[in-house]
Amino acid sequence: MDGDDKFIIEGLGGKRTLTGEIKVSGSKNDTLPAMAATLLYQNAVTLTNVPEISDIRSMKALLEKLGAKVEEGGRGRLRVTAGGKIGSVFDTDIAKHFRGSIILLGPVLARTGQAIFPHPGGCVIGERPIDLFLSGLEKLGATVQENGKTYLLRAPRGLRGGEIFFKHQSVTATETLMMAAVLAKGKTVLKNSAPEPEVIALGEFLIKTGAKIKGLGTSTIEITGRAGKLLSAKNPSRAIIPDRIEAGSFVILGALVGQNLKISHLDPKHLESLLNLLTEMGVKLKVSSNAVTVLDRAEALKPLALRTHEFPGFPTDLQAPMAVLLTQASGRSTIFETIFEGRLGYLETLKMMGAQATVYNPHQASIEGPTPLHREEVTSPDLRAGLAYILAGAVASGRTVVHNSHYVERGYEKIETKLQAVGLKIEKK
Ligand code: EPU
Repeated sequence: MDGDDKFIIEGLGGKRTLTGEIKVSGSKNDTLPAMAATLLYQNAVTLTNVPEISDIRSMKALLEKLGAKVEEGGRGRLRVTAGGKIGSVFDTDIAKHFRGSIILLGPVLARTGQAIFPHPGGCVIGERPIDLFLSGLEKLGATVQENGKTYLLRAPRGLRGGEIFFKHQSVTATETLMMAAVLAKGKTVLKNSAPEPEVIALGEFLIKTGAKIKGLGTSTIEITGRAGKLLSAKNPSRAIIPDRIEAGSFVILGALVGQNLKISHLDPKHLESLLNLLTEMGVKLKVSSNAVTVLDRAEALKPLALRTHEFPGFPTDLQAPMAVLLTQASGRSTIFETIFEGRLGYLETLKMMGAQATVYNPHQASIEGPTPLHREEVTSPDLRAGLAYILAGAVASGRTVVHNSHYVERGYEKIETKLQAVGLKIEKK
């Protein structure tokens, strides 16, 4: 990060010419908990299909600072050994810039009886409190002390099972509590837990390697704890699932500026809500067991009432990319962001590029289309808005500059190479 890292995109001026194939990488939001879960194992855990992106490098550095050994085997292979002595203090500089660090809380506390960490930072997309983590771990017997911006959680005699009702469905809170409960004593019940594919992938691997977990994918997950005994299956290893948000972002790109653009190495079952909406708008798709091809689309796309929702509803992480497509639909679309309260700010930038958008409050907006977009010099405020600006730059006329490329690189592996290969003129400077 040199302070002026950027993408430069030569826009297609509305032409739909991107064609070929884009392969989706492993999921960021599956890799992060998979890496945290390695703290639950006596022996080394191997992960494959790990994306090479900066959030994963941050998690690797955090694990190493805690005392784990992390070996990179090339081509997305990672081997983590964490059965020895593990520390309790999160590296402040890394954790405070990286929200995903919070996933380590459950495993570290369960492993060491203590966790000391700063309030986690990350993308600025809303308040992003951590109350569900703290109250959940208290229910498992931890004490919580807050000292300025540092938290101290203690459970010197180990965690014990308990019943937790999450007042909001939270992906990472469900994941970290599930991991903590695996090492707790007795039974834990997580109610109103998150049903996202990443939670299921984590839980299935824990089950396969000896944990007792029931109810994955439903709102009630039941875990029978091991009273501190680490998991020790023979050669535990697993492949990270495809990144459904990267996949969805590129399918939207295809609807904007593609023709016969194939997005492969994905799981279409993770994208049902997006694919249904695109079909409703007039985008012609071919769906196979592991790929989606954007064949073509109607000249006049239909507008939508878009509402984000927990899985299997429309993911909040695709809300900004989808808004770019809505600028090209004929008529008035509405957006209702139900998960986060700070995720509509990018619309001001799209307006500078020619979009006709109105933001009513932190959750609701509308877009009138179609409007041609034009070149602009813009700055990413977060990962998914940054990706939306790349999409907007692709459909716009002229040369768009997207500053803060490092935000996009938190979650999209080699994006400029992937997009160049299907015909977009994009470079990173
Ligand atoms: N919430 C609380 N208290 C908490 C935790 C969450 O009130 O202690 C609220 C949040 O403010 C929000 C709602 O619960 O309103 C849901 O947030 P959630 O906790 O599910 O989000 P997260 O676990 O922090 C994960 C992904 C996000 C994705 C959301 C929603 C990871 C590492 N991150 O975040 O991904 O947007 O779920 O699906 O899995 C991204 O990849 O760009 C990204 C932000």
